[in-house]
Amino acid sequence: MTLDSLVQNVAQSFKARFERDPLWVVAAPGRVNLIGEHTDYNDGFVLPMAIERYTVIAAAPARDGTITWMDRGLQEEFQVQAGSPILKGAPKWSNYVRGVLAGFQQTDMSFPGFDAVMGSSVPMGGGLSSSAALEVASATLVETITGRTLDPVDKALLCQKAEHEYAGVPCGIMDQFISVLGRKDHLLLIDCRSRKPELVPLRDASLGVLIFNTNVKHELSGGEYAERRAHCEEAARALGIPALRDASEALLEEAKPKLNPTVYRRARHVIGENLRTTQAATAIRAGDWMKVGELMYASHDSLRDDYEVSCTELDEVVELARELGTGGGVLGCRMTGGGFGGCAVALVRTSAVETITRKLVRGYKQSVGIDPAVFVSRPAAGATVIKG
Ligand code: GLA
Repeated sequence: MTLDSLVQNVAQSFKARFERDPLWVVAAPGRVNLIGEHTDYNDGFVLPMAIERYTVIAAAPARDGTITWMDRGLQEEFQVQAGSPILKGAPKWSNYVRGVLAGFQQTDMSFPGFDAVMGSSVPMGGGLSSSAALEVASATLVETITGRTLDPVDKALLCQKAEHEYAGVPCGIMDQFISVLGRKDHLLLIDCRSRKPELVPLRDASLGVLIFNTNVKHELSGGEYAERRAHCEEAARALGIPALRDASEALLEEAKPKLNPTVYRRARHVIGENLRTTQAATAIRAGDWMKVGELMYASHDSLRDDYEVSCTELDEVVELARELGTGGGVLGCRMTGGGFGGCAVALVRTSAVETITRKLVRGYKQSVGIDPAVFVSRPAAGATVIKG
């Protein structure tokens, strides 16, 4: 679904529910990470792009201080008061919004009551940052309502805090950052320590980014994510450095005898992945697609073996992609996002997209028994105000 038709649908749902036209309409994209996984909370490097899948919110002022917020897909809604502290509550998805609204209550950007309807083309729980898209769209709506904007990095941080405190996921900054700052036709090489993005153009029309949703859902608040994060912090402490970003392979090897073997492997992934990510950015700038592909496969192997966040379904997609190989138009493939299901990302020759999709879908269905969802996206722009 295009952004235009999603906007139309959400505006129509707003009119049907609230019997007037929306005054404000905003959108924020989901993301796919080309490489640099589980590095953001280690002060490391990531290389994501915003995708052409969005959360759209249409809204208009309410008569009093009540905020009524409806999800058009689930046909569920919740209400809070703009003038009272906004707490966690039901339904579950509302916590992403509640957390963002509460974050603004802690700034001097106070907002009145309003009615809102949201709709999304980012698959929920599919590893494409549906939650960051919702948080960033919510923050963009509050900015539009108040007529004031936050510094983009502060906006991403406010959204990240909502995820930590209201959704219970101790995520890094990547997802919110790219949903705010994504650039059309560009990947962003983000240094998660300085929080400075570098633009990496991806304009070559003969190349496409293919996203393969395994349709196996993961639950990041399941504890695995927090455990990985804790292992990384333990490794950094043992190495005597602020974060794994500061470690080298040599330093890790030196410390190996005093590290728990699992913690050692987690650290080995992060150190290698940071290197691979900066190397991939260099290779993309040089148009060395073979190198980019090799780095993507190496990233997947490391996430599977050392970081242990892949799953059989993701491994199957990557194996099928490897079998197709460069001859079949696939340059590289890997799991993307937090892991435990969700999506794989592949860099492919545009001319072969249809054949690749057909073969991957057939092979996956045959061995896993699940229908996947596959689409191609150009790098998209970050959050935008469509009306307001
Ligand atoms: C999730 C988190 C991100 C990042 C990735 C793994 O998407 O929200 O902050 O840690 O996992 O790279």
